[in-house]
Amino acid sequence: MLTISKELEQELQQKIQSNGGVIPKTLLDSLMARFDVEIKPLLQSLLPIAAKFSIAPISNFNVGAIAYSSVSGRAYIGSNLEFNHAALCLVVHAEQSAINTAWLNGETHISHIAITDAPCGHCRQFINEVKLSEQIEILLPNTNTSLPELLPHSFGPADLGNETRLLDISDLRDSEANITVTPLLLKHYQASYAPYSGNKSAVEIKTAKHGDFYGRYAENVAYNPSLSPLQSALSQMALSGLSLDEVEVVEITLVETEQYKNQSGVADVVLGSFTGNYEIKKAYVS
Ligand code: THU
Ligand code: ZN
Repeated sequence: MLTISKELEQELQQKIQSNGGVIPKTLLDSLMARFDVEIKPLLQSLLPIAAKFSIAPISNFNVGAIAYSSVSGRAYIGSNLEFNHAALCLVVHAEQSAINTAWLNGETHISHIAITDAPCGHCRQFINEVKLSEQIEILLPNTNTSLPELLPHSFGPADLGNETRLLDISDLRDSEANITVTPLLLKHYQASYAPYSGNKSAVEIKTAKHGDFYGRYAENVAYNPSLSPLQSALSQMALSGLSLDEVEVVEITLVETEQYKNQSGVADVVLGSFTGNYEIKKAYVS
């Protein structure tokens, strides 16, 4: 394991943060050359930086995760995100966050996930939804393992007759709907993953000075580990070093499917955990 100096750690954290949680291939390549290490120990050495993005006011337990693709050569940061005074089931786990970062940044393949701690059952189930999850190498502090080893006799998408997987669609395609939201939000809506409820859904958070953040609904075959679009967007904000309590919000918009809507109440509860009074704009695709 290599030791990263405090100065370099800060520099890297800054770079990753300004990149929304994505570590470009060029940066990983230069670190591998500089420290003369392979990708796996490098990812594990970067985990303390991932954990720095954690917002955990309830547990004070900071978890970091990094998803990596050997195809694109890029790595994606994840950290846990807790909402004060909101139901614990709304917490975003670091592993979910890393997969979410990969997905929202157009990644279609994950070969490794490094984590600061062993993944909980909920995360094992969430990872099980990802395309080719059985091939993902899971790097833990004391051992390297795989999902089939961590989740034997699993319940997966095929058990509900679903042949699609999370990350099957990661790109943003043109789409049309007769609603007044930004074209980018509509594209995220189309790229969301809702094979079980049919409720495609996405969120846009427009800020005054820090740009716009997007989140997409990612369902899970076991339902509970699903990630709501607002959780997804807020996790992205956290990886940019931001919290809703610290930025000036211009507008928050939720788009979901008229026929199935099920995200509106969740979004209200999550937003209620912040100090500001947010009026969420809701739009429905029919
Ligand atoms: N946590 C994770 O982020 N990943 C896991 O798999 C274990 C638990 C987080 C969730 C919560 O914020 C805190 O750790 C305590 O459970
Ligand atoms: Zn977990």
